[in-house]
Amino acid sequence: DITVAGHCAAMRAARPGMFEYEVQAIVEAEFRRAGSPRNGYGSIVASGPNACILHYHENDRKMRAGDLLLLDAGAESGGCTGDVTRTFPVSGQYTPAQAAAYSVVLRAQLAGIRACRVGAPWNAAHRACLRELTRGLVELGVLRGSLAKLLAKDAYKPWYMHGTSHWLGRDVHDVGAYQDGEDNAEPLPAGAVLTVEPGLYFGVKDRGVPKELRGIGIRIEDDVLVQRAGPRVLTAAVPK
Ligand code: GLY
Ligand code: MN
Ligand code: MN
Repeated sequence: DITVAGHCAAMRAARPGMFEYEVQAIVEAEFRRAGSPRNGYGSIVASGPNACILHYHENDRKMRAGDLLLLDAGAESGGCTGDVTRTFPVSGQYTPAQAAAYSVVLRAQLAGIRACRVGAPWNAAHRACLRELTRGLVELGVLRGSLAKLLAKDAYKPWYMHGTSHWLGRDVHDVGAYQDGEDNAEPLPAGAVLTVEPGLYFGVKDRGVPKELRGIGIRIEDDVLVQRAGPRVLTAAVPK
């Protein structure tokens, strides 16, 4: 809830002309106000092309009209941390290309969340996301060919180069096994919390994608509690 409050405060406040570190101050001030003594990890406040730098932490660029802002921040409270990412337009409106790319990532994320069921392999969300991201890359005019063939050769990799999930709890990348001794994915137990965080990252100089996509980086990340009744998104109150 504290992490949610921080993200909502940042969304309300972000404007063209502000520096990324001003948004960082707003999100972290809200964390403190709501009772969190520290951040779960260093906040990533990445506007425009900085969103394509995965562990960006300079947070010192002045945001411009038309930029997207990727904000990855989590509050620690009671010895546990949140881990949430939202990507939103600083001027309040997505360009058509930004909206198209965002819709693909959102669809992937929703499919990933649905896959977080008790007994499913822990990486079921990853597989669901890869399917939707690959399908979306075809729609965006980045990839061509049959979905099955593109999936078989990991064609998404240049634009989605990180995993989809990790255990979340005491630490942002919490302890816990992912594979058994024979490399089989561990099944999701009831009560586990993991992230679902697909993204797409199109570098400014990427000639392999349509021009209007270059410089767009998007990630959407929520914290999901695995329950017998189905996945519960603990951070659903931050708008997507
Ligand atoms: N904020 C770190 C991560 O998303 O894994
Ligand atoms: Mn994460
Ligand atoms: Mn994160």
